[in-house]
Amino acid sequence: MALVADALSYTYEVGTSFAAPAVAGLSLTIEPGELVLVVGATGSGKSTLLRLLAGLLEPDSGTVRVDGEKAGRAGCVGMVFQNPETQFFAETVLDDVMFGPRNLRFPDAEEAAREALEKVALSPDAFGPRSPFTLSGGEGRRVAVAGVLAMRPAYLLLDEPTAGLDRDGRDAVLAAIATTREHAGVLVVSHDPEQFLPYATRVLALSSGAAVFDGSVPELLGHPEPYEAAGLMLPEVVRTQVLARRRGAAITRIALDPDDAAAVLAGARGVSL
Ligand SMILES: Nc1ncnc2c1ncn2[C@@H]1O[C@H](COP(=O)(O)OP(=O)(O)O)[C@@H](O)[C@H]1O
Ligand SMILES: [Mg+2]
Repeated sequence: MALVADALSYTYEVGTSFAAPAVAGLSLTIEPGELVLVVGATGSGKSTLLRLLAGLLEPDSGTVRVDGEKAGRAGCVGMVFQNPETQFFAETVLDDVMFGPRNLRFPDAEEAAREALEKVALSPDAFGPRSPFTLSGGEGRRVAVAGVLAMRPAYLLLDEPTAGLDRDGRDAVLAAIATTREHAGVLVVSHDPEQFLPYATRVLALSSGAAVFDGSVPELLGHPEPYEAAGLMLPEVVRTQVLARRRGAAITRIALDPDDAAAVLAGARGVSL
């Protein structure tokens, strides 16, 4: 059971002078329970990769297999687009969230929608009857995520899910992702990896559609050079420890949390906190 992409390549506008590979030979695997973080600068191919994984684009070469099958079960791979709250159309939140499960002919579409709203910590009774156009930014994003969760996807792909949210909205989306991951494989695209690094099981860093890093978080923190060389920024708290290590500090483990980082840096000077 996994979503497996093998050697995917895709070029937009083939045959024109604009043609350049947006995705060039990318492979990745998402297993249930995993959180794969895809990072890269704007234009590095993150959204194109997501569209390929969701089956919205057909790769020029390479394959996507969902649980061993070429075209997965409908609704098996769910995708939350960038700024999804701009695409509400129903009169009520409940109708909007119910659209996916209804389309998939779930006999319990309303129950699926209510469950999904609960997963994003919005009360179905309080929010269900409201117009989706009256929601705050964070609430709207959560409703949009619920709309995809209601289809009970085995794999969830999210494109910049926390971009533009305030702290509360961001924390709510992070909590919903954590819950989803208990029973699904999750892939998150972000150009600001700081929020997701502590939870990621793997990191794929892109530059011009190709992988500049592909590995676990400890591997990334142990050897961040290719990642940094591609112009990607590690979180400040990580960079501080990497810089100290480069200056000769005896650091064998890099912490992601500021408190823990303080202990690592103090430990390198023989001080225990
Ligand atoms: N619909 C499109 N038509 C033509 N070129 C596109 C289209 N979408 C994206 N591109 C190009 O493909 C490359 C990768 O884009 P994208 O996957 O959106 O990157 P990211 O999500 O990392 O910002 C960029 O050079 C972008 O200009
Ligand atoms: Mg994008």
